[in-house]
Amino acid sequence: MRTYVVTGGAGFIGSNNLENLKDVENRDNYTFIRADVCDAAAINKIFQENDVQRVVHFAAESHVDRSIKNPTVFVETNVLGTLVMLNAAKAAWELPDGTFKPDHKFLHVSTDEVYGSLSNPNDYFYETTKYDPHSPYSASKASSDFMVKAFMDTYKFPANITNCSNNYGPYQFPEKLIPLTINNALHGRALPIYGDGKNIRDWLYVEDHAKGIDMVQEKGRLFETYNIGGHNERQNIQIVKTIIRTLQELLPDDDPRKANVSEDLITYVTDRKGHDRRYAIAPDKIKKEVGWYPETCFEDGIRKTVKWYLEHQEWMEHCISGDYQKYYEDMYKNR
Ligand code: TYD
Repeated sequence: MRTYVVTGGAGFIGSNNLENLKDVENRDNYTFIRADVCDAAAINKIFQENDVQRVVHFAAESHVDRSIKNPTVFVETNVLGTLVMLNAAKAAWELPDGTFKPDHKFLHVSTDEVYGSLSNPNDYFYETTKYDPHSPYSASKASSDFMVKAFMDTYKFPANITNCSNNYGPYQFPEKLIPLTINNALHGRALPIYGDGKNIRDWLYVEDHAKGIDMVQEKGRLFETYNIGGHNERQNIQIVKTIIRTLQELLPDDDPRKANVSEDLITYVTDRKGHDRRYAIAPDKIKKEVGWYPETCFEDGIRKTVKWYLEHQEWMEHCISGDYQKYYEDMYKNR
C-alpha cells in the first residue's frame, strides 16, 4: 500500500470545501490535514510523520478573473506553495548519494493556459508548444511549472507535469462559467457572457481528468509532461445555451424554478481583460504513451453535471452564502 499526499484535496479536481470529501471521510486509509501549502513547517511535518510515496499537487488559486483583481495571492499559493511542496518532497526523498528513493514521485497538476491563446483554427497545444501565458493566473502556473522543471533538470527530482484543458463536473465552485450559469439560471438571474461569447474552451469531464492523472503516475515516463484535454471545443455561448436546454429538460414541470430558465437571461457584458480567444489540446502523447483518452462525451458529461447540481442544491447554497455574494457583486457590478 502506498501513501499519497493530495494537495488541494478538498478542491474541485482534487476531491472547495470539506463537504466534497463526505464520501471518503469515514475510510480508515484516509486522513484530512488542514494546512497551507506555503507553510513549510506544516508541510515538512507531513513528510516527516509519513512515508509519502506519491504527491499529487492540485492546490492552487485557479480563477483567472480573481487573478486579474489580485495577482499577489496567485504568486504566493501557486509559485511559493509549489516550491514548498518540492522542497519538502526533495528533503524526504533524497538519498545520501543525491539520487532519490525508488518509486517515489511528484505529479504537478497544471493548465493549458500556460501556452497562451490559439489564433489559427487548425492549431492545437502540444507538450512542445512554447509557453506564452497572458493572465496573472497563467503566469503563476507557468512559473510553478518551470520550478518543477528546474527541480527535474537540476536534481533529477522524480516528477511529471500534466497540463489540462478546462474541467467541468460536480463540485466545481460557482465562480466558473458552468456552475455559475446553472446557479444563475435556476435563480432567474442574468447569465453574463464576456465579449462576443465566441471564445473557445476545450472542456474535459473532471473524472476523466482524475483518471488521466492516475494513469500518468502509473504508466507515464518520469520527467515528462503530458497534456490532458477533452478534444471537445465549444464556444462559451454554446455552453450556456446547452445548459439552458438541459435544465429545461431535467427540471420537472411542477418545479417553480423551471419558469426562470430561459435564453432571455443571456446578457453580453464587458469582456475580460486580456481574454484568451481559444484553448485546445491535442491529447496525442498521453493516448499513445499512457493509453488515456477522454471517455465522457460532452452531452453525457454536461447532463450528469447539471443533474448533480440539481440534486445538490444544498451544496450550492452553502457555496453562495457568505463571501460569494461580495465576490459576485465586486466582479460583475461594472460589467
Ligand atoms: P472560466 O470558467 O473562468 O475558465 P477559464 O477562464 O480558465 O477558461 O471561463 C470559461 C470561459 O467563459 C472564458 O472564456 C470566460 C467565459 N466566462 C463568461 O463569459 N462569463 C462568466 O461569467 C465567466 C465566469 C466566464
